[in-house]
Parts: sequence; structure tokens; C-alpha cells
Amino acid sequence: MLKRASSDKNKKIISSPDGKIKCEISLRTNEIFYRVEADGREIVKSSRLKLIFYGKKILAKKLSLDRVFHNENRETIEMPWGEDCFIENNYNELCLMFEGYDIRFRVFNNGLAFRYELLANDKTKRLSVKEEVSEFNVSLSSAAWKIPAYQPDRYEYNYEKIKLFDLDGSAHTPLTIKIPSGYFLSIHEAALYNYGSMNLKLNQEKILCSDITPLSDHSKAHVNLPFNTPWRLVMIADSAINLTTNRIMYTLNEPPKGDFSWVKTLKFFGIWWAMYVGEWTWAPGEKHGATTKHAEEYVDSAVRLGIAGLLIEGWNDGWDGDWLENGVNNSYIHGAKDFNLETVARYAEKNHVEIVGHHETVGFVDNYEKQLEAAYNLYAKNHINYIKTGYAGSKMVIHGRKEYHHSQAGVLHYQKTVELAAKKHICLDIHEPIKGTGIERTWPNLLTREGARGQEYEGGSLLPSHVCILPYTRLLSGGMDYTSGIFDLNNEVKPILTTLARQLAYFVVIYSGMQMVSDRPFIYEDKFSEIFKFIKQVPTNFEKTIGLAGEIGEYYVVARKDRDSEDWYVGGVTDENPRNFDLSLDFLPRGKYRAEIYADSPNSHYKTNRLEISTTDLNVDNDSKIKIFMAPGGGFAIRLQSLS
Ligand code: NOJ
Ligand code: CA
Repeated sequence: MLKRASSDKNKKIISSPDGKIKCEISLRTNEIFYRVEADGREIVKSSRLKLIFYGKKILAKKLSLDRVFHNENRETIEMPWGEDCFIENNYNELCLMFEGYDIRFRVFNNGLAFRYELLANDKTKRLSVKEEVSEFNVSLSSAAWKIPAYQPDRYEYNYEKIKLFDLDGSAHTPLTIKIPSGYFLSIHEAALYNYGSMNLKLNQEKILCSDITPLSDHSKAHVNLPFNTPWRLVMIADSAINLTTNRIMYTLNEPPKGDFSWVKTLKFFGIWWAMYVGEWTWAPGEKHGATTKHAEEYVDSAVRLGIAGLLIEGWNDGWDGDWLENGVNNSYIHGAKDFNLETVARYAEKNHVEIVGHHETVGFVDNYEKQLEAAYNLYAKNHINYIKTGYAGSKMVIHGRKEYHHSQAGVLHYQKTVELAAKKHICLDIHEPIKGTGIERTWPNLLTREGARGQEYEGGSLLPSHVCILPYTRLLSGGMDYTSGIFDLNNEVKPILTTLARQLAYFVVIYSGMQMVSDRPFIYEDKFSEIFKFIKQVPTNFEKTIGLAGEIGEYYVVARKDRDSEDWYVGGVTDENPRNFDLSLDFLPRGKYRAEIYADSPNSHYKTNRLEISTTDLNVDNDSKIKIFMAPGGGFAIRLQSLS
């Protein structure tokens, strides 16, 4: 319920429900500033807020804080799937009303958010944004974990730990920062629709500031009024591990529009890794992977091993020759000669296996959009309920122009696919996506995305610290298809520099609504069948997640409760350093549990001894403590089966 707040000429203060975070908004020299304190200490210094448009001036010349509305919200929202079923949405809100637009602030116990709301007016229907100046004036001596923006491999980079002072160019969000007073902040955005994505850079005054991805015409966005910008979000925690369960992003998105009860999370095999290790090819020919025969064999494996889905890459026309160069002519309708979509789809359906279709666009959006409706209809007609899409080009081609994936044009395209897929009851796994901003709350059929350097880069260019950084950075923006579960770690073509226990840990550590079981099924069948049991059992939908311990880039331990049973799962990963971890099970509800522990053995090592694994079964309860050893580049996974 809105109520008019007490009016003070040049300053307004809004606090979090628990009173610990305070945001002060003020006017100075006719500009709007905000600053933030946590527990009485300044964490964001005075920061400017401004929107600049081309041509028309809809914004008042003289600003005042006379018109202000205050609102409180206390509610729990429910997520249809994910890491947590219930999320607190408790905040105090302040809406500052200016001529032509409002700025809305929400302050939570664990962060704050604001956005600009452009109002409808009689004179101006459409505006072009020249610049958004949203500063986040944090100390430049802060440490930050960054991946660079505007690069050809999009978000697929190793994180670099820098001093904010040295931030050179723009960084993608979530940008996680440790400020000198010890707080951890992650700056991100929520509900990114129809606008350029926000990167962060140091502006001319050396203040961390929004940098909205431009279109090829240099503007940041063209918008029809009324229009709300995405939310600018600052997550705040007193420790790195407490940051990892910050879910404000989802609360800033709208509830689903319509019925999404048909959406189901999924584990899936793929005609996929065989291409990476050189056994098969995407392109037609002797070694073609996506043949009707192989697909049916993989369906049989999925049935035998109890995995519900199967991705088929390389099924369509366009994979000949250099697919990165030639993708402009890819067909999403016509299959290769040795692949019959109808036959495979019928066979899978008869065996209750979900096919995950595949559309690699290489970024040629114009070519894809021409076929979009027909391509989705083809899958829908064949009861294919999941599609993995991909945009592996350095830029997108949209309306004949080269655009960044994370520009307004890219954002609009991704959204078109999500909405069309929803209409056809299809779930998506988007590779080379736009980053997550919580829109899966509104569009639950967007089950996962890639959007970071994933396992396909293992084999030298991924350090063990990478997965120990993701939970504190990329994974704050939602689930990730990391493509976990490679067991053939010593493969000559594509060795994977992790231990085997760590591959199991990934299924708990890296949440994904569609979780790929990435190796070739035959690898799992014989000598690894005992270990594979964990992958078969681990859920893709959790009721509750508890970050147990960790430090950015060093280690991470998390516990998650299954949504469909009373069982819990724990996963942990370490960097290149071995680690002994005392796991207290005090997070468990009362009762007896059977702990099935998959851990590194004393000799395991990500370089020299990847496959050695130790398995132990124990009876435990919430008084129990388990001593876990994580080898260099290793990890562990535990299933806690409820016996009561
Ligand atoms: C990049 C994706 O990340 C990968 O999973 C896929 O196999 C290739 N593109 C080909 O589409
Ligand atoms: Ca990729």
C-alpha cells in the first residue's frame, strides 16, 4: 500500500526491513545521488543517477524531492523449479516522482535495487537512450572478479581477480566485489527486457558506472513509452558464502504469465561429447554423429541408465565444412540424409525419453528468425519439448547489421525465442545466451543457459579455481549448463583436468534446470556403474539451498534439499590446493540418514591421478560431523538419504 512519506527538501532515507541497510537519496546541483550504508558503515559512496536521451527533453529542468511515495512489502514468493522453492520478498520502497519519470528504490535486508520508470505522455511516444549514468561508487581499493565485456567469446572467459582501480574497459555483471571493510557486493541487473545489457566500467571521474551495451547505431536502446528500465541491483553480504544464496534478482521479476505447469526440469545425455573427443562429427560423412541409428542407440542407453533426455547435435543441414563460417545458411527444418527426425522422435517417445532438439545459429539471427516459427512447429509436432539453442558467433547478424549479443537487439531476439517456445510448450537451454537476470521467474520454460566458460574448455585452459569462482559470480545470475559429468578424464584428445569425485560434485555445485550428463553413455556403463548411481539419483529441482562454506576462487561447499523427497545432497569443490573440510550436518532436520559419500582419495590429483575415488556409506544424523578430503582440483558429493 502506498503512502506519502514525510517530505524533506533535499534528502530522503530508506532503510531495509531490519534497519541495517540504509540508502540516502539526495539532490545536489540539480542532480540525483544515492549512497548506501550497511551497519552504519558507508559501502557505496555518493553515486549519480541520470538518463540522457537523444533530442527530446522529457525530463524536468528543475528537480525536487517533493513528490515521494513510500511502500512496504512482506511476502514469500514461490518458484516452480530451481535452487529454492520459497524466496522472501521483503523490502521497503521509495518512489521518487519527477516530471516525466520516476526512480523507484527497493531496499532489502541483503541488498538494494532501483530502476528508472519513464511515464507515458502526450507529446513523446518513443525515445532513444543516449546514455544511462548509474554510478556504483565503491572504493577503488576493492577486489573484483571480472570477465571482460564486448569480447568475441561473449561470457566465456576465465575470471580475473583485480583491484577495482585497475578495471580496464568494461566488465560483465554480476560483478562481484570485496570492499575494504570486508563486505561482499555483487552488482547486477534484473528483468532485462528490450534494453541494452548493463556492463560496468570506470567513468572519467574513476567511479564505477553503468555502461549500457550499444546498438550498431550507437544508441543504448529505442523504447516506447511508458517504459521501465531493468532493475539495477546491488547484492550485499557479510561473507562470500552468504552472497551465494542471494535471490533478490528473482523477486524483481514478475510472476509467470499463464500456466507453466508443463515445464519439467531434465537430465539429459547427448550426441555431443563424442564430437569433442573426435570420435564423431557434427558434419555428415563417415563419422557423422547424429544418425538415426546412433540416436536410437543413445535412446536405449538413456533407458538402461535411467536418464530422461537426449540432446542431438548435428542433425540438421548446415554443418558441412566450416560451420562457424557457413552457419548463415543453416536449416532448422531439413535433417541430414542419415537422420530421420520423425523416426527418432517416435522411437524416443515410445521409450519415454525426451529429445532435446538443437538449433546452432552461429549468431545468424536473421536466418534463424526466418525459420523460427516453422522450426519450433516441427519440434512441437514431433513432441520434442526441449531445445538447446546456440549463438557461437562473435557478433549477431540482426536486420543485416552486426550487433552485440548483449545489445538491445540481442535481448529482443532471445526474448522472442523464449516467448515462442512458451507458446509451443517448449523448454529452452540457451548457449551463448544473454546473461540471466531472473526472467525465468516469469518464463519458467527458460530452464537454463550457458553464459560462462564451461567444461568444453577443460583440458588446459580452465583452472581448478574457475568453478570455485562461479558460485560467487556467474551463478548469482541463475543456473548454468556447464555440461558436467565427464568420466573419461584421461582421454587423449580431450583430457579433463579434474578428479572424478569433482565431476559428481558439479551436479550439486552448479545448478541447472537442464543438467547435461555429458560423457558418451557407454563410458558410464561398465566400470563406473557404481559411481554413476549418484548422477542418476541427484535431482534437478531443489526445495532449499544452503551455502555452507567457501571463499571466492578457493573453495565452495553447498547443501541442497530435493524438492520431491526428504533427501539432501552436498557438493564441494576446491582450487588447485588440497583441503580438509569438516562437514557438520547440523543443517539437516532431525532423523536418520544414510550418507553415500563420493570423495577424492589421498592420492587423487587433477593432473596425475584423476580417476581414483573413495566411496563410503555411513549412518548419520544432524549431530554428525564428516571429515572430507578434497584433493588438488578435486571435490566431493554426498547423498543423504532420509531413513525416517
Ligand atoms: C557451443 C556450445 O556451447 C556447445 O555446447 C555446442 O556443442 C557448440 N556450440 C555447437 O553448437
Ligand atoms: Ca559455448
